[in-house]
Amino acid sequence: MDEGRRRAYLKAMGITPWVLREAPEPAGSAVLQDEGEASPVPESEAPARPEMPVPESDTSGLDWEALTEAVRDCRRCPLHAGRTQAVFGVGNPDADWLFVGEAPGREEDRLGEPFVGRAGQLLDAMLAAAGHSRQEVYIANILKSRPPNNRDPEPEEIAACLPWLRRQIELVRPRVMMLVGRIAAQTLLETTSPLGRLRGQVHQVPELGIPAVVTYHPAYLLRSPQQKPKAWADLCLALDVLEGRQ
Ligand code: URA
Repeated sequence: MDEGRRRAYLKAMGITPWVLREAPEPAGSAVLQDEGEASPVPESEAPARPEMPVPESDTSGLDWEALTEAVRDCRRCPLHAGRTQAVFGVGNPDADWLFVGEAPGREEDRLGEPFVGRAGQLLDAMLAAAGHSRQEVYIANILKSRPPNNRDPEPEEIAACLPWLRRQIELVRPRVMMLVGRIAAQTLLETTSPLGRLRGQVHQVPELGIPAVVTYHPAYLLRSPQQKPKAWADLCLALDVLEGRQ
């Protein structure tokens, strides 16, 4: 991409190349959900926990068609009861670059596609700034069903849903993954380290052995635009891996 075009994209993202001042890391985790208002859910509104442990599910033999159907009909956690539809994933099934977010928000639940709300528009702008489009990459979430009021996913929900994502990753076999936000990063890297400490390096996703770069969630960037230069640095690191410079 020529420099003028890249600068125009960066401007659209709200990034000025000369912003050098370091803003302090956010305390604790980034707030992760679309619409920018991840308010804690009162216990009474939280879905009931599964009464039985979630059975191991073997997704290893599933092709795209069988996987899509299985996710559409999935009832492995209580979130299925409140969703409009399961949000499977979108993009190029042979993509070199795979993005993993947290969970569908209101718009994603309504339209059946990940990252189509305000956070998704920023993700599209970031992709364009990096010279890519959402049709070219693959985008999926840790959870396929929307948690009520965009609350954080429960560990049981993540455990129930993760086999679907792992199979998606196996089928795409990307050259690099972008782990967008704390939940995606901590889940796939099997760590409790804060997001700020996971950024800035290339990880290997355990078992899958795929290089992965951690970045801020675009919903957090909408609230904290001063962090956008760091997100841009994360994208550039992933591009280095993608283009064989790392
Ligand atoms: N936030 C996410 O993490 N994923 C989406 O699909 C939308 C918002």
